[in-house]
Amino acid sequence: VGHIDDVQELRKIESTTVPDRFVRDVDEIKSVIQDSSFTEHVPIIDLSKIGNGNYNEIFNLASACQEWGFFQVINHGVDARLVEKIEKLGMDFFMQPLEEKLKYKMLPGTVQGYGQAFVFSDQQKLDWCNMFALGIQPHFIRNPKLWPTNPLNFSECIDTYTREIRKVCEKLLRCIAMSLGLRAQIFEETFGEAVQAIRMNYYPPCPRPDLVLGLSPHSDGSALTILQQKEGGSVGLQLLKDNNWVSIIPIPGALVVNIGDTLEVLTNGRYKSVEHRAVTNMVKDRLSIVTFYAPSYEVELGPMPEFIDESNPVQYRNYLHGEYSKHYVTNKLQGKRTLDFAK
Ligand code: SIN
Ligand code: FE2
Repeated sequence: VGHIDDVQELRKIESTTVPDRFVRDVDEIKSVIQDSSFTEHVPIIDLSKIGNGNYNEIFNLASACQEWGFFQVINHGVDARLVEKIEKLGMDFFMQPLEEKLKYKMLPGTVQGYGQAFVFSDQQKLDWCNMFALGIQPHFIRNPKLWPTNPLNFSECIDTYTREIRKVCEKLLRCIAMSLGLRAQIFEETFGEAVQAIRMNYYPPCPRPDLVLGLSPHSDGSALTILQQKEGGSVGLQLLKDNNWVSIIPIPGALVVNIGDTLEVLTNGRYKSVEHRAVTNMVKDRLSIVTFYAPSYEVELGPMPEFIDESNPVQYRNYLHGEYSKHYVTNKLQGKRTLDFAK
């Protein structure tokens, strides 16, 4: 990413236009400005109820996964002060001068550090977003050079936050297994030492939200994704439901959870990863903090026998998760096309 492609730098020089590199084709941009009649609400899951063996909530979870692929989780147990802290430090990180952030510059062909991942050609349109991403676990995926020394305590906070979110992922995966009528531990056992990564997306205000995308449409390559958004920011995340882009209106303190490609493959399509994107706003900025949870790279994945029968024929082939992961990060974000790899 050259300086001229850094959206926060662009904000400083451009006022009413956006460079061509960000302007999308008309068909790509359809209904970016949301018709409020499409604003349905994604299901809300109360995680504290599930802990008490409430089967009603497991049933709600099943329908959230099957009908939406997205839901908001309340009473998830992550300390609100920790959430506030990582949001503040995340903002402090992005507000630093560009030179400081470029110390952690994402190298071409990699997905960790500061910059835009998933860009492979000069012709490709850019997202109105700055990203900072880190591999978290297993430990060998960490690149210590990319863990920021500024702002102070940021790296330590990322470590603590991702550990807390990991617990939520583990709990959710047990609940999701139960919602499918499987043993609670089945995913833990299948995944081996899980891979976890974090990405912070900062979307500055944009003079022409009607021409750009904050983040291109895609499904996630993970098993589960957990997203937190800083309060007071713009509404930015949209998912594709019945061919309409539906905005997710954040509930303060809730985590947004979505099903990734891995669970779609394992359940042979019973639970599907859902295409989503981010849009921008003319006056408000937005920070989202996203953590991805996926199986170990060495694990072989494919539809589980429980989901295959005469009326549900096999839809995906078997493959190593590491190969899928590599395929995912070496292709541009393009709706659900990355899943073609498994077909
Ligand atoms: C994502 O899909 O990774 C993040 C979208 C968002 O910022 O809401
Ligand atoms: Fe995503």
